[in-house]
Amino acid sequence: MSTAVADASTDAPEKVQASDSSDAIKSFIVTLIVRRFDPDVDTEPHWQDFDVEVYPTDRVLDALHKIKWEQDGSLTFRRSCAHGVCGSDAMRINGRNRLACKTLIKDLDVQKPIYVEAIKGLPLEKDLVVDMEPFFASYREVQPFLQANSAPPEGKERIQSVADRARFDDTTKCILCAACTSSCPVFWTDGQYFGPAAIVNAHRFIFDSRDDAAQVRLDILNDKEGVWRCRTTFNCTDACPRGIQVTQAIAEVKQAIMRGKR
Ligand code: SF4
Ligand code: F3S
Ligand code: FES
Repeated sequence: MSTAVADASTDAPEKVQASDSSDAIKSFIVTLIVRRFDPDVDTEPHWQDFDVEVYPTDRVLDALHKIKWEQDGSLTFRRSCAHGVCGSDAMRINGRNRLACKTLIKDLDVQKPIYVEAIKGLPLEKDLVVDMEPFFASYREVQPFLQANSAPPEGKERIQSVADRARFDDTTKCILCAACTSSCPVFWTDGQYFGPAAIVNAHRFIFDSRDDAAQVRLDILNDKEGVWRCRTTFNCTDACPRGIQVTQAIAEVKQAIMRGKR
């Protein structure tokens, strides 16, 4: 009997389902080069190679799990949902900010090593983990919660038209992964800039017809570290795993500061 998946681990579902088929998905070895940093022993980060057996349908997150579970339990990274919802596993993969759980191995050039490192611009804590507090501090500053001056009608919800709801639909999709903010060159050079994620989350409430604090947020972002720091580089839009038009949202906030909310 032939075995289509040479040396694959016994719990790999692909091997069990397709071991006798010429169509079987074959595993292969890929090299991940991971930027490591252990604050207890290292003064500087360094790169470490790992050869990992993967399937094309695996995600980079699966490869990192394999390293952690089978080769080096000290490898440190964040993840929770593993399905592109929680926003905890943003990292630089081949120099581009992505979610590890949404990056398929087959979509990368597997003839070359895959470089994995922590996102930039936030303090490095260990391996692929950064301190997210400066990111969330900017998020909190824009008051990302509904503020209404009046109570809703007794026993009823606040009414909103379909068009009014659509006005801010794009920016409701944010999962606070920081892929945008940590890809922004302005944020890299000046950690004081609010950053695109905070502006996206301000946009979500500024253009919500039920909210009465738009001007408060516009005043906050009309600051020397606010929207005017944006140089329309578009890295943020390219990096967003939710496909949010981040640069456009920033432009709309700039317009609202200059000409009022529309
Ligand atoms: Fe992540 Fe996109 Fe939200 Fe930025 S706007 S934090 S990239 S989901
Ligand atoms: Fe930065 Fe995005 Fe503006 S990458 S410069 S916030 S368009
Ligand atoms: Fe939740 Fe990737 S682990 S978004």
